[in-house]
Amino acid sequence: MKTTADFKKRKRENEPISMVTAYDAPSAKFAEAAGIDAILVGDSLGMVVLGYDSTIPVTMDDMVLHTKAVKRGAASTFVVADLPHLSYHGSIDLTLANVRRLIQEAGADAVKLEGGSTVINEIRTLTEAGVPVMAHLGLTPQSVAVMGGYRIQGKDRKGAEALLQDALAVEKAGAFSLVLECVPTEVAAFITEALSIPVIGIGAGPKTDGQVLVYHDLIGYGDVHVPKFVKAYTNVSEMIVASLKEYHQEVKQRVFPAAEHSFTVSEDVISGLYG
Ligand code: KIV
Ligand code: NA
Repeated sequence: MKTTADFKKRKRENEPISMVTAYDAPSAKFAEAAGIDAILVGDSLGMVVLGYDSTIPVTMDDMVLHTKAVKRGAASTFVVADLPHLSYHGSIDLTLANVRRLIQEAGADAVKLEGGSTVINEIRTLTEAGVPVMAHLGLTPQSVAVMGGYRIQGKDRKGAEALLQDALAVEKAGAFSLVLECVPTEVAAFITEALSIPVIGIGAGPKTDGQVLVYHDLIGYGDVHVPKFVKAYTNVSEMIVASLKEYHQEVKQRVFPAAEHSFTVSEDVISGLYG
């Protein structure tokens, strides 16, 4: 997919959208090679790559650096970059300056931000300025301290109603798509039906217009806690540790490097060294 029109077309034609996060050139290249529809440079970066225990410490500089790397790896794929914590909660001028970095400096095709009614002005202003905005509702990890933990959202009647109102509001403000995170299947299905923009789910059941997963969770890379809604399609961590162990042993035993990994010269070069 190349444009926001492609997202809307997918919804119209009822073809699910596949999305995965990526944080560097090789992961982006693999996603593109696999035919993934769109890449998210998520601020999950902070947890799966930078080793923080939340997304809170992620900075604009982090996002710019990694978005650039992702664009180099996947020049033909639609790339959405997360606005990190507190980068869109001050003046609209500060928000615009931060968005400018992700779009103009790093080359993102769109930005994503968390929240509903509280960020309507930002969504509207950015959309009017020509920047496609992906909204993010349900579990919004940047607000984990206020929400009181990573837990499912929209579970009761009041919560589901608030979620629906926020979803309608972000659509009305101009968001081209919406991520719904950790929401019961039936609530996500209802919101998906109610909106004309595509809803991309994570932990939101099978009835959304698309799915997004964190790259490292999907391939079992790292030792981060893997939530219930993740499907790990492989476990590269095991392969990596096994390879590193083997290398370690072979160095100790002088098995590596073998002749085929080494460079040689003719004998007279060495005898010449003795004078
Ligand atoms: O940062 C991220 O990876 C995300 C997805 C989980 C939607 O926001
Ligand atoms: Na995120």
